[in-house]
Amino acid sequence: MNRTLVIIKPDAVERGLVGEVISRFERRQLRVVAAELRVIDVATARRHYAEHEGKPFIDRVVAGLTRSPSLILIVEGPGETWKVIRAMIGATDPAEAAPGTIRGDLAIDMSENVIHGSDSVASAQREIAIFFPDLA
Ligand code: TYD
Ligand code: MG
Repeated sequence: MNRTLVIIKPDAVERGLVGEVISRFERRQLRVVAAELRVIDVATARRHYAEHEGKPFIDRVVAGLTRSPSLILIVEGPGETWKVIRAMIGATDPAEAAPGTIRGDLAIDMSENVIHGSDSVASAQREIAIFFPDLA
């Protein structure tokens, strides 16, 4: 079994989409093996998005990720779980995300794009260590 990190972002928690997103994972036979609802602090958000430091959108993205509680998950499945989940999430810009994907069905705005999913095995390991150090 392989594990990956998912964040159901504040915009989605505020809109009451937690159940919808988790249902999609469960219907796909992926399992939630850890979950924590919490407000991510700015330092942790910057560490999480370290690859984007210095880009024009980083301050807006960090503000969006820290403004109210997120539901942070570890999701487990067979094979390349991070890849399956990225396919379910859809394109970064919801306006370009295919219908049937989480962003393609539930979002329209790049800065309110519902969900984060790790983009590689290495990212999954790094991000699990940030948010669930006891489980890394
Ligand atoms: P990124 O890691 O590239 O996308 P993804 O979430 O699909 O892995 O970017 C992180 C977040 O930053 C993304 O979810 C939305 C935001 N973002 C922008 O606001 N503008 C941009 O041009 C990019 C690339 C990302
Ligand atoms: Mg990313």
